[in-house]
Amino acid sequence: MDSKFDNGVLSIMLPQRISAQNAPAFEKELLVIEQLKTAKEIILDAENLVYISSLGLRVILKLQKKFKDTPLFILNTSAEVYKIFDDTGFTSLFNVKKKLRYVDTSAFKLIAGGMYGSVYLINEEQILKVFHGIQSENDIQPVISAIRVAFVHGLPTIIPFEIVRTEKGIGMILELLNSEMLSTLIAKNPQNLDKYIEDMIELSKTLANTTFEETTLRSRNEMLKSKLKAAADFFTPEEFLTVEKYIDAVPKRNTALHGDFHAKNLMMSDDMLMLIDMDEFSLGHPLWDVANLNCIYQAMVHIDKETADDVFDFGKSLPYEDFYFKIIGCTFAQAEIIWNKFFNGYFLGYSEEDKSKILKLVEFYANLKFITFLIDVCNKLKDNPDKAAKKVQTIRYFLAKLKSQNLDMLIKYLDLWK
Ligand SMILES: Nc1ncnc2c1ncn2[C@@H]1O[C@H](COP(=O)(O)OP(=O)(O)OP(=O)(O)O)[C@@H](O)[C@H]1O
Ligand SMILES: [Mg+2]
Repeated sequence: MDSKFDNGVLSIMLPQRISAQNAPAFEKELLVIEQLKTAKEIILDAENLVYISSLGLRVILKLQKKFKDTPLFILNTSAEVYKIFDDTGFTSLFNVKKKLRYVDTSAFKLIAGGMYGSVYLINEEQILKVFHGIQSENDIQPVISAIRVAFVHGLPTIIPFEIVRTEKGIGMILELLNSEMLSTLIAKNPQNLDKYIEDMIELSKTLANTTFEETTLRSRNEMLKSKLKAAADFFTPEEFLTVEKYIDAVPKRNTALHGDFHAKNLMMSDDMLMLIDMDEFSLGHPLWDVANLNCIYQAMVHIDKETADDVFDFGKSLPYEDFYFKIIGCTFAQAEIIWNKFFNGYFLGYSEEDKSKILKLVEFYANLKFITFLIDVCNKLKDNPDKAAKKVQTIRYFLAKLKSQNLDMLIKYLDLWK
């Protein structure tokens, strides 16, 4: 039986048929798979399965009973096989998913694309966002669920439609916003900057004032820690614990966070600011979003070109400011203005002394953002250890910067955050 073990996820390929004839043999072969004992998730891949009888279903029940603490998924079922699982009540016992629809991206216009993802225009109502290299719908499902939860809580965001398969990886079909990116509007109408920043502040405060039940969304702290855990092999135990400590120092909250809040992930639709790029949408202290904004409009502007290249690999043939404009949508000078207006507006009414203390804390977490970004990159570079090792060097550079500061003192400034 074909099986694959990756990052704690055990995927087992089910055979074409599991009937009275082969069910006992199937059971024997299945239950001896060594990684069943350590897997944090078991996936039964039904890609090839065309028929399963009651004896076959019983084997799956036995598997679940034996490893009852490990989540079990049955993925990629055909419509016919799904019906068997549904008729027998298995769909209410297990997470059974139908085979994803295959979409050939070459038929569509690419509207944005980078190393790790691409966005295509499907029609006047829909876009397709593909995550390169991601093969499991379980990795995308939390994103779709998060967008749905945000939407039904009245937050201004798009409607998610469907998870699909493409030749480049798993993708999701989302509502197309026929509107302009806030970064484009800022560049086009600088005279309206104050109004745009006010809208950004209002939206980030709306997020921070929207409470969710703890179980409906992922926690920012836990998300960052699980990415760190997946990259644990790259670090010494001491480095691992240091980053974990920095994440844990931020108190948990049940309020919403965008996770990558900046003007290129916001669109203005009929005078209303909308959130796009919700991959990191989660629950947590608003410090995470404010620090992200500081990272984008300050820390990224002020790092030296060499370090910037170590982080982003833009290649030195391109001047860094041009690269920055390409990914963030504004010049260094505009970034300064955006940050200063945002920060002073967000903390309006605070004393200058309190603001300068809060700023120090925000800057600490803006630098941590480089680290968590690079941890993500390392996880995507598992097949390219040399390149990942270079990223780890860069993480160490930022870690050294953070270690020279007194976080125990800085974190107390959170008490000033009203
Ligand atoms: N729902 C949408 N409606 C219209 N355009 C969209 C939508 N979602 C994404 N886009 C376009 O695709 C671009 C990239 O999308 P998104 O920000 O979700 O992906 P990303 O992988 O984070 O890319 P980036 O690294 O540029 O932020 C956006 O800047 C926007 O131009
Ligand atoms: Mg984006």
